[in-house]
Amino acid sequence: MRRRMFVTCALPPSVKTLLTTDYDVTFAGETRVPTADEIIAGIAGHDVLLVTAPTQVDRALIARLPDSVKAVATYSVGNEHLDLAAAAAHGLAVFSTPDVLTDACAEAALLLMLGAARRATEAIALLREGRWQGWTPIQLNGVGITGKRLGIVGMGRLGRAIADRARAFGMAVDYHNRRRLAEDLEAGATYHATIEGLLAVSQFLVLACPATEQTRGLLDGEHIALLPEGAIVVNIGRGAVVVDEDLIAALAGGRLAAAGLDVFDGEPAVHPGYFALPNVFMLPHIGSATIETREAMGRILLDGLRALWAGQSAVNRLV
Ligand code: DGY
Repeated sequence: MRRRMFVTCALPPSVKTLLTTDYDVTFAGETRVPTADEIIAGIAGHDVLLVTAPTQVDRALIARLPDSVKAVATYSVGNEHLDLAAAAAHGLAVFSTPDVLTDACAEAALLLMLGAARRATEAIALLREGRWQGWTPIQLNGVGITGKRLGIVGMGRLGRAIADRARAFGMAVDYHNRRRLAEDLEAGATYHATIEGLLAVSQFLVLACPATEQTRGLLDGEHIALLPEGAIVVNIGRGAVVVDEDLIAALAGGRLAAAGLDVFDGEPAVHPGYFALPNVFMLPHIGSATIETREAMGRILLDGLRALWAGQSAVNRLV
């Protein structure tokens, strides 16, 4: 008998086809994310619950899952929406999608750096609003990234992939991480044991870390004041790492030249202050949004689940 999967998010057609190779799938999140009650009402007899960030798999939901559910698969690399301890206590296996988002998110980080540095928000508006009068040497001069110092907060897979690409642009790379990396992984980047040390040298600062107790609210007014005058801040990690009011004040006052943001605290709500700032280049959390990545995310989840049913270990198993 084929196993059954209950899915709470919309997925690209090719990923849906992929999932149906292994499972009879109930696609319950096509138009909106189902509530906890709707999940419980529909999931009886399913083996796997597949979710992504907007579905909170918390202790309360886990306690109500039927015995048929043996695994939770999150179609994301982040797992802030999952109570892993409760899942483990309930005997659920949990899988995520590490590694396969790295290249797309690193590309998006470069897009944010370039978009912010080259004043893309203003340039696009000028053109689309029919206000462009033609080329002049004083039109929309931004700053270059070649030869600048890039500070990366969080030198995991994503941070390192950003560093690789930044080197190709002639940037010098500095980083702060919980632990110093081995020399081969550092690849010439300069380690700063303190965030303060990193901020002091970061003409470009890229936040590439998850939101944890240590990083929540990390980029506040006090820390922004340590950045070089006219620095550019990029956030490809999680919105909660930034104190929005403080970043907005620094951008409005000219202390920072620009920001490139793909993630927002409380998204999909976005602090209204950002919309008034032409020096903010914003994207709606599309860091990993390439079709290659989406398909790879589907494949790695299927691989993890196949390993589970075969009694084997899997690289993407969280508990
Ligand atoms: C992830 O996979 O964590 C992406 O940021 C989407 O939430």
